[in-house]
Amino acid sequence: MFWLLFVLGLATAFNNPPGVSIWCGKAYMPTNKSFAPGGALKQPSASKGPLLNIQVRPRMSLYIPTDVNASFIVESQFSYTHGVVWDYAEAQDDSDLKLEITIEGESLHLHHSLAGSVTSKSLEEVPFSLKNLTPRFIPYSVTLTITRASARWVYNATTQLFYLPPRTDGGSITKVDSLYGGLLVQNYVNGSTAWTPLLPYSYYTTLANAPNPQAFINQGYNIIYLVPDATTLTQTFNLFALNTYLNACDQVGLWVMYDMRYTYQNLVSVTAQVTLIKSRKSLLLWYTGDEPDGHGDPLNGTSIAYSMIKLLDPWHPVSVLLNCYNFYYGNYSAGADIILSDVYPIGVNTTWSVVYNTPCNKTYGRCGCDDCDGVVEDISTRLSRFEKYQTWLGSAPKPLWGVPQAFGNQAFYNRTPTAVEEVTMMMLSLNHNAKGIVMWIWPTTAQISNVTRQLGTILVNNSVTAFLLGARNVKLTAVGQTEMDVAGWRLGRQMLLAPKKDTDGIRGIEDGGGL
Ligand SMILES: *[C@@H]1O[C@H](CO)[C@@H](O)[C@H](O)[C@H]1NC(C)=O
Ligand SMILES: *[C@@H]1O[C@H](CO)[C@@H](O)[C@H](O)[C@H]1NC(C)=O
Ligand SMILES: *[C@@H]1O[C@H](CO)[C@@H](O)[C@H](O)[C@H]1NC(C)=O
Ligand SMILES: *[C@@H]1O[C@H](CO)[C@@H](O)[C@H](O)[C@H]1NC(C)=O
Ligand SMILES: *[C@@H]1O[C@H](CO)[C@@H](O)[C@H](O)[C@H]1NC(C)=O
Ligand SMILES: *[C@@H]1O[C@H](CO)[C@@H](O)[C@H](O)[C@H]1NC(C)=O
Ligand SMILES: *[C@@H]1O[C@H](CO)[C@@H](O)[C@H](O)[C@H]1NC(C)=O
Ligand SMILES: *[C@@H]1O[C@H](CO)[C@@H](O)[C@H](O)[C@H]1NC(C)=O
Ligand SMILES: *[C@@H]1O[C@H](CO)[C@@H](O)[C@H](O)[C@H]1NC(C)=O
Ligand SMILES: *[C@@H]1O[C@H](CO)[C@@H](O)[C@H](O)[C@H]1NC(C)=O
Repeated sequence: MFWLLFVLGLATAFNNPPGVSIWCGKAYMPTNKSFAPGGALKQPSASKGPLLNIQVRPRMSLYIPTDVNASFIVESQFSYTHGVVWDYAEAQDDSDLKLEITIEGESLHLHHSLAGSVTSKSLEEVPFSLKNLTPRFIPYSVTLTITRASARWVYNATTQLFYLPPRTDGGSITKVDSLYGGLLVQNYVNGSTAWTPLLPYSYYTTLANAPNPQAFINQGYNIIYLVPDATTLTQTFNLFALNTYLNACDQVGLWVMYDMRYTYQNLVSVTAQVTLIKSRKSLLLWYTGDEPDGHGDPLNGTSIAYSMIKLLDPWHPVSVLLNCYNFYYGNYSAGADIILSDVYPIGVNTTWSVVYNTPCNKTYGRCGCDDCDGVVEDISTRLSRFEKYQTWLGSAPKPLWGVPQAFGNQAFYNRTPTAVEEVTMMMLSLNHNAKGIVMWIWPTTAQISNVTRQLGTILVNNSVTAFLLGARNVKLTAVGQTEMDVAGWRLGRQMLLAPKKDTDGIRGIEDGGGL
């Protein structure tokens, strides 16, 4: 009883008047009035002249001593919102530009020409050696400096490099590739130490409904997402059932996404859970806030949990699921390496709340899909918005994952998606740069599980994953087809095409030389 009052006490201390429930910052009870929710991220105002914006970051979220190759990504472009004032006339001649990257005073003496970046966006991968560095838990600070002999100015950009000790407890390691946005893992079941791209493809589920791990893999899925049980005293999991299930996952190599949605703001609980789970071979990544923006959780909550998790386990990424169109995105996303987006557009009424009997608009109401139009395109719109928010914040791109709707006939949703709609939602997510798919929720209808099994078998195949996580996603235009959403991933002379509204889902084409 006492803890319940305590939780309610916290929930009121946000943007809302006392006693007014909010979702995405908006009042939604018929007894409460609309007020301006605030928290919307806006495009920064433009500078007078063009700015030179250079970012540097390690390609991989972490390196370990057995890694042979390491590199930095140096991205430069003109911007009107981020960077330093740049003398465009002077910059026409870039022959004496010098680029240097230093790792804590140790210069890498990388003298790269910036040619090309002066007039257009450029991305360079700069290899470096790990040989002279000592693995440690504290990140190395990295500075990129650009100087020019004939001028006084200097350009600095900074980042952090994680060069970690190997694991000694048998636990796994997950890398995030900052170039293409995918995850990389080592296949411990066959004993391979090679870093293999993994396109997470699965469902959320509870322990009570969790599928047999081997059977699930056989059906085309590669991870399992475990939702904790709200009703246990600790709001985590039944530990006996969890251990039994994780043992089975460890054994067959079904990767696990571990959720702390009810407890992530309680650092004592986070510490206990991370300590208990972090050495599991099958652990793929952590998940803290579940729609913290919807609930109006404290703005610093995800970041505080993030710091604690990284302190205890620097080897795995942390994810957060954001539900709102534009509500304190910067604060909530700051506490994650990977952002999930759950836009549920099927069977909703986005202008009239069928649950609360109120209108829904930019400042009021809760309709089950925040600021949506109730069409599948809401999914791609939201992913594009999140991508844009990252650039507005001036931060490195964070991988986005999609959470397609695989449920219905409840609350805001008057029906379940059809098989064709399910495939469309998944393909739209991938076309718009999602690097993982975790549907809500298993078990689902026979039609949906049938089609997601078929698509999964294709997507998790190494030969398809190699494109999706090993190349830039290119938007393509289908001439004369306004309803088609097409993207391609090109590797050498081959291109994988993914058109929306094709129930076959995904196709590869071999190029005769014309691409
Ligand atoms: C908001 O609605 C709740 C629930 O009906 C009610 O108890 C509360 O007084 C309302 N608050 C305001 C400020 O209208
Ligand atoms: C390291 O990079 C080289 C050159 O790009 C490549 O040939 C080699 O396969 C890479 N090694 C590993 C282990 O990735
Ligand atoms: C850039 O970095 C160098 C080396 O760390 C430092 O000496 C210099 O003061 C920095 N300059 C600016 C403008 O930040
Ligand atoms: C182990 O599995 C990975 C794919 O997960 C594959 O790339 C690799 O070739 C396999 N290694 C061995 C030794 O079988
Ligand atoms: C987090 O924000 C809350 C207000 O919501 C504040 O009371 C608390 O001090 C902050 N914690 C940290 C560590 O900044
Ligand atoms: C939210 O993010 C903004 C912008 O980064 C920052 O200025 C502010 O301090 C953050 N608020 C909290 C409570 O963390
Ligand atoms: C939403 O509900 C309103 C009010 O009942 C109705 O007029 C409107 O047609 C509904 N829209 C959709 C898309 O169902
Ligand atoms: C949203 O709807 C509420 C309730 O009808 C209304 O008071 C408010 O002005 C509307 N807001 C906008 C931005 O239209
Ligand atoms: C599963 O899909 C296949 C191919 O589309 C179809 O032939 C079969 O009837 C479907 N089964 C169910 C249970 O929907
Ligand atoms: C992956 O796809 C390739 C090419 O289509 C196919 O030859 C191979 O059998 C597939 N592998 C699995 C495990 O399905």
